[in-house]
Amino acid sequence: MLAHEPVMVAEVVARLAAAQGGRFVDCTVGAGGHSRALLEAGAARIIGLDRDLEALAVAEATLAPWASQVELVHADFRELGDVLRRRAVATVDGVLADLGLSSMQVDAEGRGFSFRRDEPLDMRMDRTSGPDAATLVARASERELADVIYRYGEERYARRIARAIVSARARGPIETTGQLAAIVRRVVWRSGGRIDPATRTFQAVRIWVNAELEGLDRFLREAVSWLRPQGRLVAIAFHSLEDRIVKQTLRQLATDPPRQVALLTKRPVMPDDEEVTRNPRARSAKLRAAERLGRLQGEGPEGASLRSPA
Ligand SMILES: C[S@@+](CC[C@H](N)C(=O)[O-])C[C@H]1O[C@@H](n2cnc3c(N)ncnc32)[C@H](O)[C@@H]1O
Repeated sequence: MLAHEPVMVAEVVARLAAAQGGRFVDCTVGAGGHSRALLEAGAARIIGLDRDLEALAVAEATLAPWASQVELVHADFRELGDVLRRRAVATVDGVLADLGLSSMQVDAEGRGFSFRRDEPLDMRMDRTSGPDAATLVARASERELADVIYRYGEERYARRIARAIVSARARGPIETTGQLAAIVRRVVWRSGGRIDPATRTFQAVRIWVNAELEGLDRFLREAVSWLRPQGRLVAIAFHSLEDRIVKQTLRQLATDPPRQVALLTKRPVMPDDEEVTRNPRARSAKLRAAERLGRLQGEGPEGASLRSPA
């Protein structure tokens, strides 16, 4: 078993019909666990994307036995079209997006995703670009901070936390996870449960730093446009904001004319109790899948050019 076990592996392999072979794009290759399972099941080729260079290094090791079938690319999945066009790919058989943060990123030292250690407040999945969390927290207005924490953290004490951040940073820069967590804990009390009061704020800042929800709908539409007829898309979301976008986008693609997909999951698929016990991170995972409509090449006039123009 991998140290960072991927979620709902059997479900992903089955929904993507990897046993039939073909070319897949793993848009969030991470430690390579899902890709490995797809290759073991019969996938012929995988293009694996990740915006995190450290994840790509781990994926390279995991997928070393299939090196000739795999290409790893440092890219944001919102650049999927460019990645495929540059490789002169016409269509693919399946696309996987296992969204959000990996347990490997949460556990890695020095990345700033966890408040369980005191370390630089970075939180970027791609450390080669964009401002880190400390910079954004230093720059944002109180209003913007409150909006981010409310919207992305679904935190009802967002205004109070934003005010506390602004007054703390007037005394000196907020540069570490420990500082930010302490500021939140001073103004939001733990209410009986096990959840640390800083949890929601950390989720919000991380989503903000990585612009995780921006363009997610566009990416899903683009991914579908690259599928061959009957090709499959599988998306796994880990929090309600993300899942809402996946659900709405797939529903629109399945209903708005011209209908582009058939939903393979009317309701999201969730891990069973046994998986959640083994891998608690799987607890909040929701998997949705869709199949591209249209005829296969050779079946009729629609088959050849389903993809919308670039
Ligand atoms: C939940 S993990 C995927 C784990 C992977 N399925 C496995 O089997 O190990 C999500 C991964 O997606 C990457 N990621 C998140 N957003 C991304 C984006 N917009 N573009 C590319 N990679 C992204 C993260 O860096 C992380 O490595």
